[in-house]
Amino acid sequence: MNDLRSLTRPESVAVIGASKTPGKIGYAVIENIKSSGFKGEIYPINPKEQEIAGYKAYPTVRDVGKPIDVAVLCVPAAAVLPVAEDCGQAGVKHLIVITAGFKEVGKEGRELENKLVETARRYGMRIVGPNCLGVMDTHTPFNATFAKNFALKGNIAFISQSGALCVAILDWSLKRGLGFSQFISIGNKADLNEADFIENAAEDPNTKVICLYLEDVVNGPRFIEAAKKATKKVPVIVLKAGVSAAGAKAASSHTGALAGSNAAYDAAFRHAGVLRASTMTELFDLAIAFTTQPIPKGRKVVIVTNSGGPGIVTSDAVELSGLEMSRFTPETLAELKEKLPPTANIHNPVDVVGDAHHDRYKIALDTVVKDPNVDAVTVLLSPTAVLDIQKAAEVTVEASKANPDKAFVASFIGGAAVEAGVNYLNANGIPTYPFPEPAVATLRGMVRFGELRRALEDGDEWVFTDVDREQVKSIFEKVKKDGRNLLLGPEAASVAEAYKIPAAPSRLATTADEAQKFAEDMGYPVVLKIASPDIMHKTDVGGVKVGLKSAEEVRAAFESIMENSRKAVKDARIYGVEVQKMMPKGDELIIGMVKDPTFGPMIAFGSGGILVNLLKDAAFRLASGITKKEIMEMISETKAYTILKGFRGQEPDDIPALAEAIARVAQLCRDFPEIVELDINPVFAYPKGLSALDVKVKLAM
Ligand code: COA
Repeated sequence: MNDLRSLTRPESVAVIGASKTPGKIGYAVIENIKSSGFKGEIYPINPKEQEIAGYKAYPTVRDVGKPIDVAVLCVPAAAVLPVAEDCGQAGVKHLIVITAGFKEVGKEGRELENKLVETARRYGMRIVGPNCLGVMDTHTPFNATFAKNFALKGNIAFISQSGALCVAILDWSLKRGLGFSQFISIGNKADLNEADFIENAAEDPNTKVICLYLEDVVNGPRFIEAAKKATKKVPVIVLKAGVSAAGAKAASSHTGALAGSNAAYDAAFRHAGVLRASTMTELFDLAIAFTTQPIPKGRKVVIVTNSGGPGIVTSDAVELSGLEMSRFTPETLAELKEKLPPTANIHNPVDVVGDAHHDRYKIALDTVVKDPNVDAVTVLLSPTAVLDIQKAAEVTVEASKANPDKAFVASFIGGAAVEAGVNYLNANGIPTYPFPEPAVATLRGMVRFGELRRALEDGDEWVFTDVDREQVKSIFEKVKKDGRNLLLGPEAASVAEAYKIPAAPSRLATTADEAQKFAEDMGYPVVLKIASPDIMHKTDVGGVKVGLKSAEEVRAAFESIMENSRKAVKDARIYGVEVQKMMPKGDELIIGMVKDPTFGPMIAFGSGGILVNLLKDAAFRLASGITKKEIMEMISETKAYTILKGFRGQEPDDIPALAEAIARVAQLCRDFPEIVELDINPVFAYPKGLSALDVKVKLAM
């Protein structure tokens, strides 16, 4: 891990390009550091000035002659390299390069950026940016940015790939009264990237939640490692903008076509325990809730309301989001019945009804929150003339404080009448929303994070020791020697066999005699298919014959397949005819792999057969680190699972065998990074066992 403490909590900072001219970035940065209350040493660097912002100025950073933790560069791009060299010689630890004009402007900028990284590496310096707003830590306090304001002190670390978003969020947060622990603009990420700042924020005692705005991830495995470690301590929420995974999209396989542009990020975030927000609102709703409320232990939600309509709307939102409405114990019901008027609804949603004063809220909340079937509480309020809204807010806060293991959210619906109550709730750590749906969505996110975090504790990568790597290696070598990158059917079946992935027996026959012998060895009926890397659509050229039940049929099929294929595709490389045992029909599934440029091999499972791309029923996980639990989860996410479990009285399929086959495919893809695509479609699932019928393996050229 990189130690970035001296970056966010430095003892000394030099501002290179510090200026006396208001309106310049070098002016804003030094003024911000000064006014943030930074207690360390401040050294303005400017060859023309003796003094800036009340501090002695130095012509170069080398003239300071004292240790410098951080240098903030506000000089034009052309001056950055010599300045970085000076910093290296002066023993500076970290550079914050605000200057723009690097890789974001094209080839020349990219070269300049590479040289900057080279210089920094030579001296062991780390770089934030270039092309960034800078870095804030409110608890140090340290504001090395050119933002208009300093963030309020708080517990949210915000790490953003967009500087513009940083300043906008900052301004909004001041109005909202929302505080941050760290505020980091990562710019071009030439050196330090999101993973470094996740690690640093997770180690920061003032950070309770880490929020990121990302357009891409620089190093997938490192991101996962950093995020996985961080999420054990604090929630990590990412808003990932922009579609991605060009590699997956370009893939020619069925699996590639199934993987949407977001599948890899979804799989990676899930694997690392990272919560994905889909909007800015959601990102900050969750961040606020995580800093003020506990993570619910389960999915059970209670609603307390003084009006029916909002209660129903909220119940719907709970059910639709996958949360559950709490069902009370008889004791809770008895207590509510005794203490609330007969007009009240004592079942969830608990309705204290329109004529309620705050005391009924108190009774309802104090009673339901104790129920073991309640993990989270949603308090709804519609402003009536008889209700003291401030007092209702107060009893809500009291109930929340008295039950710190249950998450509270509220929606006091209205305008001016509820404003003071809403402010009171927010100020006292109850996340409050103008309408109920986002309140439920926030709870859903919190519950999901709890589930993701628990899943991280569930087991290690599922690994098998009974696989035959050497066999696979020798097949791949032979294929490459042949100048091919697609395996023939029998080769792919041997690869599957080496990893104990149950595949239908398959042999390559070069003569009719051989075909007959293989068919007899396997037992009839068999299927014959042309084995040629140049014939993609075998059926179309008359290159497939199914249901062959005798030696005569096999011999005739062999001859006709060879003839048809030669005629249909001139100069096709024909290796012979594949003889495959014809398997009984089972439920059709697909197991596949597609490679993501950032996160590596992704395993897919779903409904297979010829309708695969129409059904689009697939779940994805990263092959790296895949656990048994993840595999079971991915199976159960698909529609195919309904069939596997035994649809309409049918016998269930062998789900354990299927899960094992998926794990073995994942291991094969991890062990052989040269596999760029893999499709097993269909896999027939049976009540006992399964059979891979068509295994396609494509290697990197
Ligand atoms: N050492 C020390 N000071 C130097 C220097 C050096 N080698 N070279 C120049 N300076 C001084 C200048 O004299 C000037 O000080 P002055 O105001 O006293 O004259 C100061 O550094 C700035 O140089 P200047 O040439 O005036 O540049 P500028 O302020 O117009 O622009 C940047 C500099 C960095 C702001 C500009 O190049 C830039 O990149 N702007 C975009 C920043 C941005 O958008 N970043 C991304 C945000 S998300």
